[in-house]
Amino acid sequence: MEIEIRRIPCANLLADVSAMGDAVDGNTIMIVGSAPCFPYGLIDPIEKLGALAEKKKLWLHVDACVGGYIAPFVRMNGGDVPPFDFEVPGVLSMSADLHKYGYCAKGASTVLFRSEELRSHMIFDCADWPGGRMVTPTLAGTRPGGAIAAAWAVMNFLGEEGYRAKHRQVTNAREAVEAGVARLGFRVLGRPQLGIVSFTHDEVDPFAVWGKLFERGWFTSLTTEPKGLHLMLSPFHESVTGTYLSDLEWALGEVKAGNEGKKREARYS
Ligand SMILES: Cc1ncc(COP(=O)(O)O)c(C=O)c1O
Repeated sequence: MEIEIRRIPCANLLADVSAMGDAVDGNTIMIVGSAPCFPYGLIDPIEKLGALAEKKKLWLHVDACVGGYIAPFVRMNGGDVPPFDFEVPGVLSMSADLHKYGYCAKGASTVLFRSEELRSHMIFDCADWPGGRMVTPTLAGTRPGGAIAAAWAVMNFLGEEGYRAKHRQVTNAREAVEAGVARLGFRVLGRPQLGIVSFTHDEVDPFAVWGKLFERGWFTSLTTEPKGLHLMLSPFHESVTGTYLSDLEWALGEVKAGNEGKKREARYS
């Protein structure tokens, strides 16, 4: 579509609202924030982005792919989650992935619009061919309905109580990891509030620690800026944080003693 994308560096790992404002010009159509971003699990200042969007009459999209189906329930559970959705007036659309913290299989996901009128721009509607008018919800054509039906079943099965219970476990796991890694001398990146936590170490190479953990069967992720260990936690992890933390302590000790293991490049996929 020949739309220019301006990527604005973060400030303290979060969207830099003032730099984003400076980058806006008369041709800007949309600004985007994350709730949360994947690398650190941190929620951008969506209220400030909303105010910027309103002031400059822009479309604010919130990428809540990894947060949209956990953040509301963490908040219901009493967690400290800042406004990130349509509660913020400037937010016009959001994406929220069912296959992440919605606990559904891949193949179905959701994008939400503030109004029917805004959603109408997404519809593909073409009558300019001999087969008759073709109307589809998106640019994509025929799609299998199985994943949508399965997601509907999962969501009805879990319901509000089910999601709250699962996300309480995720929160417990995150809090245990945060406290445990801090005890071992790691530094948690930012202030995570949902299910992702990343942490670095000022004296040892986190990638070397990852290599030792891998020897004990921990196949987790990494961040590059700064180098860090990255965990996306699920309800099950609540039961293994103790094992993880003791293996992390062992791995750290090994690296400090010069006994490094397999090196790994940081890969998202
Ligand atoms: C914030 C965010 N946006 C978008 C995506 C992309 O998701 P997918 O690869 O499932 O399309 C991810 C995946 O982790 C994410 O965390």
